[in-house]
Amino acid sequence: MSFPLTRLRRLRQNPVLRDMVTETKVTVDDLIMPLFVCPGSKVKNPIPSMPGNYQMSIDVLVEECKSLMDVGIRAIILFGIPEEKDDTGMIAAHDDAIIPRAIDAIKKDVPGMFVIADVCNCEYTTHGHCGVVVNGDVDNDLTFNSLVAQSITFARHGVDMVAPSDMMDGRVLKIRQGLDAEGYYMMPIMAYSAKYASAFYGPFRDAAESAPQFGDRRSYQMNPANSDEAIRELEFDIAEGADIIMVKPALSYLDIIRRAKDRFNMPLAAYNVSGEFAMVKAAAEKGWIDEDRIILEILTSIKRAGTDIILTYHAKHFAEKLQ
Ligand code: PBG
Repeated sequence: MSFPLTRLRRLRQNPVLRDMVTETKVTVDDLIMPLFVCPGSKVKNPIPSMPGNYQMSIDVLVEECKSLMDVGIRAIILFGIPEEKDDTGMIAAHDDAIIPRAIDAIKKDVPGMFVIADVCNCEYTTHGHCGVVVNGDVDNDLTFNSLVAQSITFARHGVDMVAPSDMMDGRVLKIRQGLDAEGYYMMPIMAYSAKYASAFYGPFRDAAESAPQFGDRRSYQMNPANSDEAIRELEFDIAEGADIIMVKPALSYLDIIRRAKDRFNMPLAAYNVSGEFAMVKAAAEKGWIDEDRIILEILTSIKRAGTDIILTYHAKHFAEKLQ
């Protein structure tokens, strides 16, 4: 059927009709807000490259969770800035470490909040790498110890889901086995499966104080040039028991998201990362773009590409103004 029998503009002329035939709609249910928690009390340090985001002490974090709930954001992912760092990241698995204490406080005061904990070592190691360093590179299998220990501790403190972001081979299996052995067989794992070695993480590393002190992450995170390899990463994590798979970053990787959605019958997440957020904020500050429309278009495009879940620093702003 073609012109003049068919005219695609017929369905675009009326706003009600346009809404009726809208294929993709982002809602607050799709969104996870990342939050940064630090030691102290009444601390709310602005993160310069991520306007509107803060390093928060636990008391401030709890208040933020309440205000997120008020606008309908019911899921957060926590990143910790610890008092002390060590060589392995094992320090993050102590019961009195920053993330377990944050989980305790949120679960006590905001019980309806779905709390996800990022599981990784880079925020907790002196060298800023995501695992145990041996001879100048991250040792894959030695890194399992702290990842499994963190996951079990977070589970014991009542976290709702763990999200390993380290990119070691086999870590989903090890975490699954570790959780199951402790009786946490119902704890879901959201795996950062296809995580690229991306320059878009720059602002986050300032926020989480997690930049590598030497070298880079290219021996464990993926080459941005590769797409088939992303499918292998996703396949591996699914086989190892991941409940939700993730592509990260989002915007330069919409093709990977679409391939993943077409191929796997699995819930799929994408991380709209700090650099993607910072670019929008910087251009908006200069008055060069319409911030609200850009945010809506970005989130819609990530969902349209095939994601069910979006981790985004825009979550609160979206909930307050854009839905
Ligand atoms: C930790 C981790 C990173 C991000 C999420 N978890 C940083 C990194 O891998 O260097 C990035 C998030 C963002 O940029 O918003 N491994």
